[in-house]
Amino acid sequence: GLPEYIKIVEVGPRDGLQNEKVIVPTDIKIELINRLSKTGLPAIEVTSFVSSKWVPQMADHKEVMRGIERQPGVQYPVLTPNLQGFHSAIAAGATEVSVFGAASESFSKMNINCSIEESIEKFEEVAKSARNMNIPVRGYVSCALGCPYEGNIVPAKVAEVSKRLYSMGCYEISLGDTIGVGTPGSMRRMLEAVMKEIPLSALAVHCHDTYGQALANILTAIQMGVTVVDSSVAGLGGCPYAKGATGNVATEDVIYMLNGLGVNTGVNLYTVMEAGDFICTALNKKTNSKYLEDLQVL
Ligand code: HMG
Ligand code: MG
Repeated sequence: GLPEYIKIVEVGPRDGLQNEKVIVPTDIKIELINRLSKTGLPAIEVTSFVSSKWVPQMADHKEVMRGIERQPGVQYPVLTPNLQGFHSAIAAGATEVSVFGAASESFSKMNINCSIEESIEKFEEVAKSARNMNIPVRGYVSCALGCPYEGNIVPAKVAEVSKRLYSMGCYEISLGDTIGVGTPGSMRRMLEAVMKEIPLSALAVHCHDTYGQALANILTAIQMGVTVVDSSVAGLGGCPYAKGATGNVATEDVIYMLNGLGVNTGVNLYTVMEAGDFICTALNKKTNSKYLEDLQVL
């Protein structure tokens, strides 16, 4: 059977906005997060403490982190690739961080300018400081179902990197189909390998919808017992170091599917749609949510 409850981790303000070419005003980002905070979403990724030379859109990380109105019970993780990012994040008031590794050497190099091994060393430093401060750390594994530079990625490599992140203290491992090339078949094979190393309760899936497979992949994962799903309001996004990758699966579409399956998320679909409408209007673009698109026709 399916899990009774699925936790949705909203990544739109970070994974979504990081890919926008035009710099989004800080107050728009803050308003988006404040709106999402009132929808019942249990976790909202706020921003990235990365180099503004690498990702200019996230340069206002401090202002965004300090500017949002945090709701009790909502987690507000931020991306921190190294100790420098971790220290700035904590100084700006972050109470949860995420390290982000990859199962592909080439992607690691292009995304964070170091090998997988070097990245693990940096993440260990972050994890150690975080542990001393009681800051929870989430771990990402990008390219879990394929790499923009290397193509196919073997499940064993995903399992190996996931295990290292889990062993250093990451409470959850989010398996990223960075470029949205996965299918229910490859999702199943990858999860089977990772589940041998890590408890199911510590796994999340992070699907991009490039080839329209995201919902099918998510359904496969939750049928296998995964209970945490990353998604992005209005399907915003992509990755600046993964050319051609579209947005994450839309939060609206995931909730619509889970509502239909009778799986509880605690999230109000209507208010998420309003937040999606707000950001699409602000960005002057059409939503990538199939659900919202259809309602606009009606
Ligand atoms: P580097 O150039 O190798 O870093 O970049 P460095 O340690 O050699 O330092 C060089 C300069 O960067 C120095 O500044 C440092 O101060 C600065 P300078 O002296 O030249 O003025 N620096 C920093 N500045 C701000 N914040 C920091 C930081 N660290 C060093 N934390 C670095 C290494 C990781 C910083 C760089 O490669 C970077 O910022 N990359 C951005 C990666 C990124 O944000 N990618 C997108 C997110 S990942 C993703 O989207 C996938 C995901 O969604 C899952 C999925 O879909 O699969 C998570
Ligand atoms: Mg992503």
